[in-house]
Amino acid sequence: MKKIIIGNWKMNLGLKASLKLAMEYKKNLKGTNSVVVAGPSEFALADVVNILKGSGVLLAAQNVFWQNEGAYTGEVSVKTLEEIGCRYVLIGHSERRQYLGESCRIVNQKIKAVLILTQKISPVLCVGESLSTKQAGKSKIFVSGQLQRALVNVKSFEAARLVIAYEPIWAIGTGKTATEKDVLEMHGHIRVWLSKRFGVVAGKIPILYGGSVKATVAIELLATPDVDGLLVGGASLLASEMKKIANIK
Ligand code: PGA
Repeated sequence: MKKIIIGNWKMNLGLKASLKLAMEYKKNLKGTNSVVVAGPSEFALADVVNILKGSGVLLAAQNVFWQNEGAYTGEVSVKTLEEIGCRYVLIGHSERRQYLGESCRIVNQKIKAVLILTQKISPVLCVGESLSTKQAGKSKIFVSGQLQRALVNVKSFEAARLVIAYEPIWAIGTGKTATEKDVLEMHGHIRVWLSKRFGVVAGKIPILYGGSVKATVAIELLATPDVDGLLVGGASLLASEMKKIANIK
């Protein structure tokens, strides 16, 4: 299976800079060894997808609402993301949990909405513990709890479209990548959890790692068992860095 490399541009770029980066992705990321995905902010999605046409680079949104349509000021629907051509949507990123109060219940509603309202978009469920939870030795139990609550009422056949991203909060934007041992243990733990919950379908669910990923650390990460791809923040703002990561065999 090809590795999935998602660039999470967050709110780092304005419209012009987003379009410029999309052009660099188009130039540099055609025909790599991986499935490459660009995640611009919402206002740039439609223009970025036009630029990326023919490059093979796919599109991810950073957010979605759980209702199909209606009076929900400032939100974006599954239908709109589908019309734009998004193939992935990040759900439950720790920054949204922290700054926007996105609870596990909200995360669950969003996951369910994407799985039910469209066949074309994969929800990327982000989970991961804080530094204090890690120091207390409770990382695995914490992540199991997040998975449990985010995936309430998700059926096995629906789960086949899921992607999980393990993003320890202490590694995001800090320059401190999780060690190979941390990643190996947590990804193995997540796979076992998914197998108990969804049976054989668990083998089809890609588990990505995220948190201070750069090309230099990506080789080791991608060689770790149960690491099916990477969610890249800061380093995804450089197409050259994404190219190096996406070409790792
Ligand atoms: P980072 O962000 O690579 O800048 O640590 C990763 C993420 O939050 O998705």
